[in-house]
Amino acid sequence: MKDGFLTLGIETSCDETSAAVLKGGDKLLSNVISSQIDVHKLFGGVVPEVAARKHVEVINTVIDEALEKGGVRLNDIDLIAVTAGPGLAISLVVGIAAAKTISYSMNIPAIGVNHLEGHIMANMLSDKEHGFPAVCLLVSGGHTEIISIAGPGEYSRLGGTVDDAAGEAFDKVSRLLGLGYPGGPVIQSASEKGDAAKITFPRPMLREPNFNFSFSGLKTAVLNFTKQNDIGDENAKISVNDVAVAFQEAVVDVLTQKTIRAAIETGAGTVWLAGGVAANRPLRESFKTECEKNGIHFSMPDFLLCTDNAGMIARTGYEIFRKGGKGLELSPQPVCPL
Ligand code: KG4
Ligand code: ZN
Repeated sequence: MKDGFLTLGIETSCDETSAAVLKGGDKLLSNVISSQIDVHKLFGGVVPEVAARKHVEVINTVIDEALEKGGVRLNDIDLIAVTAGPGLAISLVVGIAAAKTISYSMNIPAIGVNHLEGHIMANMLSDKEHGFPAVCLLVSGGHTEIISIAGPGEYSRLGGTVDDAAGEAFDKVSRLLGLGYPGGPVIQSASEKGDAAKITFPRPMLREPNFNFSFSGLKTAVLNFTKQNDIGDENAKISVNDVAVAFQEAVVDVLTQKTIRAAIETGAGTVWLAGGVAANRPLRESFKTECEKNGIHFSMPDFLLCTDNAGMIARTGYEIFRKGGKGLELSPQPVCPL
């Protein structure tokens, strides 16, 4: 690999259009993210066709901006890394078509990247110690999995959710509490005004001797609680903020305890957090505290690298290419395990 190797990352798997320029393995020169949250908010969730149209509208501008902010021209790029899956097929198509067009016209190699691996590899941009074996909690809108990592590209799944993903639970509970979309950030800010001592929700599967999770029952417990109790505004005996903080605490508790146990039982010296829910402040704090207590090295991606972004895709593509790998096929793969 030449010095100053430049990778252009492109990500359009869901509702964020993103492009990034990575120099070498760890210098992110730019990471432009155009979010569609304001549009999807009106519908209470991501509408795939709307998402795809928005990607088409902004993809060129986002790539231009990433190049400009990175201080490079398209001619300078050595590799294009694009998300090939998992994600919404009609959204993935937009990023892949852009990558293939640039690749073909400029004669630059392009490789497909697994979005989930991207989330995990975001840690390599933030954690310079890279201690392996590691255990990673991958926790996003579509996935909640505990993964054992022997090294980059060497993953084995220890367990995961048997029903809803944690991010999905945040989104559904937020909707039923009337707090809006996306659920994670709004529940987090409502929680800051809530009293955690008022309600205790169950900790599903916490004591089971495996690394699986279940969040659908917790969501039902919240629903039943709201039906059986008078939930009011901030001045009421039980406020919506109290319900939010109790729900968030239950999720954080289960995610933290099971991941730490996975690290201890597998002898991993490092724990990583990855995915959109990794942006949750109480979750980050809880992981930090418990890792410190157990003498485990802990790292998490910088806040902006947790939710969908092209920086993590560029980092993953660079790693695959460096080792002579081909990456995923350049066609949308809506279902695409690690
Ligand atoms: O990784 P991501 O951006 O997209 C997927 O690949 O799914 O994750 C999105 C998920 C959403 O469910 C969103 O509610 C959740 O991440 N999320 C959060 C926070 N920020 C985003 N959940 C809890 N707390 C947050 N601060
Ligand atoms: Zn994601």
